Formats: sequence, structure tokens, C-alpha cells
Amino acid sequence: MSTVFVSMSMSLDGYIAGPNARPGNPLGDGGERIHTWMYETATFRERLRFGTGGETGPDDDIVRHTFDRIGANIMGRRMFDEGEVAWPEEAPFGTPVFVVTNHAREPWVRKGGTTFFFVTDGIESALAQAKAAAGDKDVRISGGADVVRQYLSAGLVDELDIDLAPVLLGAGNRLFEGVTGDVRLRTEGRVAHLKYRVAK
Ligand SMILES: NC(=O)c1ccc[n+]([C@@H]2O[C@H](COP(=O)([O-])OP(=O)(O)OC[C@H]3O[C@@H](n4cnc5c(N)ncnc54)[C@H](OP(=O)(O)O)[C@@H]3O)[C@@H](O)[C@H]2O)c1
Repeated sequence: MSTVFVSMSMSLDGYIAGPNARPGNPLGDGGERIHTWMYETATFRERLRFGTGGETGPDDDIVRHTFDRIGANIMGRRMFDEGEVAWPEEAPFGTPVFVVTNHAREPWVRKGGTTFFFVTDGIESALAQAKAAAGDKDVRISGGADVVRQYLSAGLVDELDIDLAPVLLGAGNRLFEGVTGDVRLRTEGRVAHLKYRVAK
């Protein structure tokens, strides 16, 4: 059965983007630090057409496994707006992408299997369309925070994957700010034990 999952990189203080995020300033001021770990991986570099090279190993395995399991993506219009001007012509998804928006638009077909569909009748409709498109593969709620919060609050997410970067941003777009409803999370063990050394 298809799983609906969120997979996002987040700063230790809970931000998925810094302040002033907009097309031309993706992830906001300082926000690229949240994603540095991924930019270094071979799989991400290949997907984003950054060139050859990049690291293999556990981080790369996670990025590759995440891409491989996805049959369809869902995103909010602000994430799309940043990506529209930044992604390569062969957009890095290779699946249908359902953009939740109030602005109707014809589908946007890119090379390499990515087509963006603009869904104006809400998150449940976008999810139904994504599940139908994904078949046996999984549906990723790709971001940004607004859309993820809505899916979490509506109880429509099965799995939440957070890549927690050792970064304190101090300001920006907080992923869990305003999540409503009784969202209960389970993990192996009762708590994640994290220990950091503070750079001087
Ligand atoms: N750290 C990470 O892993 C990660 C991953 C992805 C994205 N991001 C970052 O996330 C940020 C974007 O997140 P965000 O929270 O600002 O916005 P978002 O979730 O990407 O998009 C929000 C927009 O989507 C539309 N929308 C949302 N819900 C809707 C609904 N139910 N019906 C109709 N339209 C709806 C609205 O736009 P309209 O009304 O204008 O249509 C709304 O303003 C970006 O800075 C991006 O770089 C970070």
C-alpha cells in the first residue's frame, strides 16, 4: 500500500527556511545551511544537474531511497515558485507533481518525466490525484511548511521523516508552528538522544 510521507530538512530550532524566502532567494536567508548535507550527496547532485561527483555513503543512501520510493509529489505554490526559476529544465522529480494553489494554470510538462499539475480544489483533492498517479509507490508531501502543516493537521500523513541539521537559524519558517489536531508520533525508543559540541 502506498505511504503518504513528509521528508524535510529542518534546523535544530525548527525552521525549514530562513527569513525572506522567495524566488531568487530559495530557502531564505541562511536557509541553504539546512540543506548542505544533501547538496553534498552524489544522488542530489545528479538530480539537480550540479555536475558529477558528490559523496556516497549513509546520507546519499537516504536521499536515493527517498527519491526511489516516490510515485507522485505534492507541494505548495510558494515552494513551486522558488523552484520554477531554479530547477534545471529536467526538473528533479521524475514524477507527476501536484501543486496546491489558488491560481489555476495549465499543466507544465518538463523533460524527464516531471509534470506539474495545479490543483485548486484543496489538499484532499491533490492527495487523491497523487495517490492515483503514484500507483504502488509512495506519495511525498514535499513542502513547504504551510502545506505540510495542513496535511498533518488533517491526519493525512502516515510518516514524517526529518533530517535535522545541526544549525540554529533563529528566524524563518517554522515547520510545526500552528499544527492543529491530535498528531501523535511514534519512534523507536521513547526519545531521540542528540548531543552536539558547540564550535568556538
Ligand atoms: N527544508 C526543506 O526541506 C524544504 C522543503 C521544501 C520547501 N522548503 C521551503 O519551504 C518554503 C515554502 O513554504 P511555505 O510554507 O512558505 O509555502 P508552501 O507550503 O510551499 O505554499 C503555500 C502556498 O500554497 C498555496 N496553498 C496552500 N494551501 C492551499 C490550499 N489548501 N488551497 C489552495 N492553495 C493553497 C497558497 O498559495 P496561493 O494562494 O498563492 O496559490 C499558499 O500561500 C520555501 O522557502 C522552500 O524553500 C523547504
